[in-house]
Amino acid sequence: MLAARPRTDLGALTRLTELADYIVPFTIRVIAHLGVADQLADGPRPVTELAEATGAHAPSLLRALRALAGKGIFTEVEPEVFGLTKLAEPLRTDHPLSLRDAYPLMAADVRAWAGLGDCLRTGEAAFPRIHGADYWSYLAGHPADSLAVDRWMSSLTRLHLRTVLPAWPWAQARQLVDVGGGDGAFLAGLLRRCPHLHGTLLDLPHVVSAAPALLAEAGVADRCRIVAGSFFDPLPADADLYVLKTILPGWDDADATAILRRIAAAMGPQSRLLLLEAIIPTGDVFDVAKLVDLHTLVLTGGRHRTRDDLVDLLAGAGLRLDRIVATPTLTVIAAGPAGPQLTSP
Ligand SMILES: C[S@@+](CC[C@H](N)C(=O)[O-])C[C@H]1O[C@@H](n2cnc3c(N)ncnc32)[C@H](O)[C@@H]1O
Repeated sequence: MLAARPRTDLGALTRLTELADYIVPFTIRVIAHLGVADQLADGPRPVTELAEATGAHAPSLLRALRALAGKGIFTEVEPEVFGLTKLAEPLRTDHPLSLRDAYPLMAADVRAWAGLGDCLRTGEAAFPRIHGADYWSYLAGHPADSLAVDRWMSSLTRLHLRTVLPAWPWAQARQLVDVGGGDGAFLAGLLRRCPHLHGTLLDLPHVVSAAPALLAEAGVADRCRIVAGSFFDPLPADADLYVLKTILPGWDDADATAILRRIAAAMGPQSRLLLLEAIIPTGDVFDVAKLVDLHTLVLTGGRHRTRDDLVDLLAGAGLRLDRIVATPTLTVIAAGPAGPQLTSP
């Protein structure tokens, strides 16, 4: 039997070309890094002025802004004069939920992404093969990249504080450990909103080194202990809450189970674990988790999980899924020790 001839749908070809683009993502990142949006806070300006203020080459900046304006990011209000749009506003540094640092253009990541084909063939991360070190060890030896990642996480954290905090009764806890809590941005925001809560921040030494200043600036340093260490080692015991925010997706099942076992061993009978992460929905629906999932494959060899995957993962560490609360960003997945029934929060 002859195979059916493929259909010619010009709309589909155009849409596919648009989706296959990597020029817009690169351009957004560089324009964010240059700080162009900050220069437009008081209204539209000619590209020559923007170039001078940001240290760019005017004719090339024009080409970049023109490309983005075609996507609704910036607008060319008259020839070679650009202004902000709704999509450009969050690129301002002074935006309350600024995403200026949320799109770092890191050469090391881009080189790893060029190895996606190998990831799909082998199921293994490209980053360690290309750079000779796993992602977190590489960052420990590359302070500029490490800082860019911390800032990227902090910009997402601002969004998470806005969306995730209303989803859980945090104020009912007394002691919380933010395991792999980065530079402390999430814990600082949480402690500011819950005056009776005390926190422990645990992350790798080069990451927590930024935390004292951040926690002091938030006025919560006296309620926060900082532990420079690894979540593969024994963890502070008997806290009411253990938080793993966007941690498990970075690890394969064996490592994720090892982290969960450390938490299970530290928990008391009434302790709870909160996983704050994106869950992969079933079916064809778009969800950003399905994209970030590929990023974790390329960089660390980890994976985002479905609800059922998480139930199994938790069970493998002696934990039981207790409650799931969806938010506009991350999902809150509460778990407790598998043994006795927990009292409700
Ligand atoms: C994706 S970031 C999430 C940071 C933070 N929880 C957040 O959501 O903003 C992963 C974090 O895990 C930390 N990390 C990686 N390996 C670790 C280890 N062995 N022990 C403790 N933290 C680790 C990294 O330094 C980084 O801060």
